[in-house]
Amino acid sequence: MGQPVEDTALDILFREARTYTKWQPRPVTDETLRNLYDLLKWAPTSANAAPARFAFLRSKEAKERLRPALAPLNVAKTMTAPVTVIIAYDVKFYEQLPKLFPQNPGMLKLFQGSPEMVETTAKRNSSLQGAYLIIAARALGLDCGPMSGFDHAKIDEEFFAAGKPCFGCDQEFFPEGHVRTNFLCNLGYGDPGALRPRLPRLTFTEACSLL
Ligand SMILES: Cc1cc2nc3c(=O)[nH]c(=O)nc-3n(C[C@H](O)[C@H](O)[C@H](O)COP(=O)(O)O)c2cc1C
Repeated sequence: MGQPVEDTALDILFREARTYTKWQPRPVTDETLRNLYDLLKWAPTSANAAPARFAFLRSKEAKERLRPALAPLNVAKTMTAPVTVIIAYDVKFYEQLPKLFPQNPGMLKLFQGSPEMVETTAKRNSSLQGAYLIIAARALGLDCGPMSGFDHAKIDEEFFAAGKPCFGCDQEFFPEGHVRTNFLCNLGYGDPGALRPRLPRLTFTEACSLL
């Protein structure tokens, strides 16, 4: 604590990490996926609410269920990736607050009364958890290919019962499926031969102000 990590770790996590679209024929084990979750779960979230839910699609059958929802340019890279994660969020995340944030019982009521606050909180924090997933994956030697080119409604219907009566969903705001897709991320061991040159980034002065 209080010390930067080694420069090689910064290379792995940031400077040399790329977005991959082609994959080596090397599988990702379930143990690696469990290790991935055991790192990313430490991501900070508002009220420790951890609204993200992760569906790891590994089988051909699961990938075929995803295929119709993908933008055409994302089909090949996704169907060939060893794993595709749906990073989703649960709009009933507040039901876990008595366990996750026991010091403030009032929080549960606050969320129960405000679907707008629920949506904003769930989106913001599941995006952060998704970013932690990318960093944790890189720390474990995996490569990532995040994607937002897909049909949300199709994925929510296929994987999260959107539009269908949902057992236990008796909340007035969310009568149907209560888990919604945020973004997708392919995971595997990338093929560096297929990478294009790195795109530029904004400089400190373009993106930041010191006040
Ligand atoms: C939330 C998100 C959505 C993205 N959506 C797509 C996508 O639908 N298809 C795609 O090919 N790349 C997608 N990308 C990849 C970006 O274009 C890529 O990360 C960016 O150009 C940086 O590339 P680099 O990591 O190799 O430097 C997405 C990235 C993020 C983080």
